[in-house]
Amino acid sequence: MVEISTSILSVLKGEESKTFFALEKAKTDYFHIDVMDGKFVEKNTYKKMFEYASYIKRISNLPLDVHLMVEDVETAIDEFSCLEPNIITFHYEACKNKEEVNKYINIIKEYNSRVGISIKPETKVEEIFEFLPYIHNVLVMTVEPGKGGQTLLTDMVEKIKVLRKYIDENNLETNIEADGGINLTTAPKVKEAGANILVAGTAILVAKDYKVIIDELRA
Ligand code: DX5
Ligand code: ZN
Repeated sequence: MVEISTSILSVLKGEESKTFFALEKAKTDYFHIDVMDGKFVEKNTYKKMFEYASYIKRISNLPLDVHLMVEDVETAIDEFSCLEPNIITFHYEACKNKEEVNKYINIIKEYNSRVGISIKPETKVEEIFEFLPYIHNVLVMTVEPGKGGQTLLTDMVEKIKVLRKYIDENNLETNIEADGGINLTTAPKVKEAGANILVAGTAILVAKDYKVIIDELRA
């Protein structure tokens, strides 16, 4: 069953509360919290995303899917863990070496969150194969991280296929989460390739009825 994680990055100013309540009513599976530090990527959403996630935590029991696009991964894990996110995902490219990757995996587990590793479009999927048995999700960026509303990079579909093949051939349980440019046209392609969690921001937030679009993306 495919799950939908709605990115709140592009929620309209002044419409936050209305949007979060409506997304809960529409039964999004997760709220996708895009944390950017202005260093790993150009934009800085750190404070805003912490406030939004804290508010969502207060009004909803739906799980938080925190996507850390930051250089200082350890500090961000420590700071966002107080919100008890269901998933904390960090970027492979923010790690200096394998020891650091393993260190973050263990710290996130100590906080009782599920672990995700995200890879940028130019990162080869083979680079993270060795970590798959120890993590819950691979967040495959299907756009360059840093902003919403971009167009899906079609050669990322092939990357998802290769990852799905490796996971299945090795009897692993790791989820594949696709993130960026997901809409009613691209969703079937990434699902067919093997993604089982879809992140969508713009496609959902522009819709009149969130439940309709979420159900269609999930179908
Ligand atoms: C981009 C973020 C994505 C993005 C998704 O850096 O990681 O989660 O907000 O937004 P859309 O669905 O608009 O591409
Ligand atoms: Zn994201």
